[in-house]
Amino acid sequence: MLSKQKKLQAVAAAHKLPWVGHTLAFVKNPLGFLEKIQSRYHHEKVVKLSLVGREFHLVLTPEDVKHVLQENNRNYHKSEAYSVLAIFLGNGLLTSEGDFWRRQRKLAQPAFYKQRLALMVEMMGSETKGLLDKWVSEKENIPIDITKDILNLTLGIVTKALFSADVKHRLEGISEALNDIMHYADDILKSFVRFPLSFPTPANRRFKRAVQKVEGIIYDIIDARRQELKRNPKVRYDDLLDMLIHTKDEETGETMTDKQLRDEVTTIFMAGHETTANALSWALYLLAQHSEVVAKMRQELNAVLGKNGTPTFENIRELKYLLQVVQEVMRLYPPAWIMGRKALKSDLLSGYPIQANSFVLISIYLLHRHPDYWERPNDFDPDHFLPEPTKSRPTYAYIPFGGGPRMCIGNNFAWMEMQIVIAVLIQKYDFVLDNTEKVEPDPLVTLRPKKNLKIYLKPIDA
Ligand code: HEM
Repeated sequence: MLSKQKKLQAVAAAHKLPWVGHTLAFVKNPLGFLEKIQSRYHHEKVVKLSLVGREFHLVLTPEDVKHVLQENNRNYHKSEAYSVLAIFLGNGLLTSEGDFWRRQRKLAQPAFYKQRLALMVEMMGSETKGLLDKWVSEKENIPIDITKDILNLTLGIVTKALFSADVKHRLEGISEALNDIMHYADDILKSFVRFPLSFPTPANRRFKRAVQKVEGIIYDIIDARRQELKRNPKVRYDDLLDMLIHTKDEETGETMTDKQLRDEVTTIFMAGHETTANALSWALYLLAQHSEVVAKMRQELNAVLGKNGTPTFENIRELKYLLQVVQEVMRLYPPAWIMGRKALKSDLLSGYPIQANSFVLISIYLLHRHPDYWERPNDFDPDHFLPEPTKSRPTYAYIPFGGGPRMCIGNNFAWMEMQIVIAVLIQKYDFVLDNTEKVEPDPLVTLRPKKNLKIYLKPIDA
């Protein structure tokens, strides 16, 4: 009998994987590079890439993606790119692994149950109305920078979801600090030369200051809540922090320490607003160019909600076309456009050998535009998500929130938020783009528009 290792070696010899070494091309234009690979190696299921002196296996089929994320997920840990995020997020859900992650996920899951999310619908609607009022009151003939404003909107929503009651006074300077942190992570991912964080470069110093600022604010909020609980142990809030503070390990009865709470709260804070903001910016960009889609959405909104209604937890399910629109936006511009994993032990993907310790890349962007699974893959068409074509596609051809046990814990939160924001924004206004050139996506930590999007608001019955 051949040993497992020998078998793998035999398979490796039999399969000459296409080998591509194009670090510069990848760094210069990651999406264009990936698209070229996909069309050049259309018949292949796995392509080996040499990037920054390392070997990566780019997985091209939904079946192999399912194998990595679901069927054999215990063999694949998050790759080192996540360690950049861990500097700030600590050992939170996004960056932890193994038994520690499993325990934390179990503890945090109830905070995202549907009945908890139901409590947030109204808040999401009123935060969006607040933004719309601000836009309406702004001077005419000056375009609105929606990229910035939408980021503030989703930051406001996740803040209220986490901390409910008024913590605004504690949050001064947080947007700037979060902005510095995101830029730092982007720069690190783009650069070849990295100075360790202990080097006092201006970028490192700025990053550390920003982390301290956010950390200080979050510890203050947790501390204030703990103090309040000491004074009045029965007090409960309808927010995520309340759930995370009270949740107990079934076996040991233990609750989270302050450090765990800090890491989870920071993770939710960070993972839960920038991604959604990008998707919403892309949504407005696409809708500004597709008046027929907007008209169909408005018809549905009027039929289900009436002229000025806001979605509720009960009727949001009836807004089927709105959901298709959001799904389609996330297909073309998935904010999490790529995911990396490291194989702990050797494995086979469609018969291709994956050595222990080698890296696997999953490009959500490529899967979502794969010509085998999507008709006219580059066109914006919400009918891609009608029930029939959806049923005929493999599940892992569409994974804006990842898949398997590490799938985004906030996915229902995000679907709901995106639907509510779009419904409120487009009911009474058209969005006219100020950007004259095609807006290019910028694939950094997340996929965002390269330039800030500017729009004019036009009342529909004007
Ligand atoms: C459009 C919005 C969002 C997108 C596209 C998105 C995407 C993703 C993806 C792809 C992953 C899996 C990463 C991997 O496996 O490597 C993930 C994980 C995660 N997301 Fe989201 N996300 C979004 C919104 C949110 C929101 C609103 C929250 C919280 C309120 C959130 C919290 C998290 C957390 C905590 C994880 C780690 C889960 C775990 O590993 O157990 N995300 N997200």
